[in-house]
Amino acid sequence: MPLLFKKIKDLRNYLKSRRCEGKEVGFVPTMGYLHKGHRELIKLARMQNDIVVVSIFVNPTQFGEGEDYDRYPKDLERDLSICEEEGVDVVFAPEVAEIYPKGYRTRVCVGELGNILEGAFRPGHFDGVATIVVKLFNIVQPNRAYFGEKDYQQLKIIQQLVEDLNIPVEIIPVPIVREEGGLAYSSRNVYLSPEERESALAIYKSFQLAEKMIKAGERDAKRIKEAIRAFIERHPHVKGIDYVEITDENLKPKETVEKGDRILVAVRIGDARLIDNWKVEL
Ligand code: PAJ
Repeated sequence: MPLLFKKIKDLRNYLKSRRCEGKEVGFVPTMGYLHKGHRELIKLARMQNDIVVVSIFVNPTQFGEGEDYDRYPKDLERDLSICEEEGVDVVFAPEVAEIYPKGYRTRVCVGELGNILEGAFRPGHFDGVATIVVKLFNIVQPNRAYFGEKDYQQLKIIQQLVEDLNIPVEIIPVPIVREEGGLAYSSRNVYLSPEERESALAIYKSFQLAEKMIKAGERDAKRIKEAIRAFIERHPHVKGIDYVEITDENLKPKETVEKGDRILVAVRIGDARLIDNWKVEL
């Protein structure tokens, strides 16, 4: 079983002595309810570091009003056994009061990158993410930290943050892990009924449709985005599409599509809000 710490002080003490022995620390921040996507991050961390730390913390400051903070799925026992299977050394699972004690005030503000795409629909979300990630980096002081491309905008914001604030952590991106039908693994997939899950496959299929259009010579981003929207919208249980956007790798919107661009979508299906993205390969 991995060591389980709930207090910052205890985790710090433990890691301090490991670092004194010259051990390198790999860190995988999560909100728990671990799945195969998380496992991939952990596996890579396991290969590249002496000590692997996984944090499990549903961070209240990155949820907006009316979002799913109160019903976000939790199962620490199951998460611990997944961590054991993956050879994790340390799990850090603090209470909210340990991270945000009374009198807590400071917040990290990420600026423009945090206001577009997801940020336009979830105001303040990325400031909340950046704040917790900086706090966790300061607590764990890892050599490397692992982030999934599933949350592509989050990854880009963290890369920018680390550069802007000179945080001495190497950010390692990990490609999206998908179920057999193409649905990206997400803790939020538990919100989907079997029928809604079927409709959710439309997201992946729409990326395949886009890839096909692009391979056939289509380069007009507007037409590709319209085709994606129309395709997803005609599936049952789809309540709405928050955005379909095509950007360059740095999230700058594109009019003409090229290799390496990203298609990013957010779709509301049943009670779930799913985000996904696709790298244009050509
Ligand atoms: P969470 O949604 O638990 O995701 C933790 C990490 O796993 C993130 O880096 C995310 O991109 C990655 N991940 C999730 N699903 C994935 C998939 N299908 N394929 C590849 N990687 C995947 O993201 C968060 O938590 C939080 O915002 C956090 C960074 C922990 C800050 O609270």
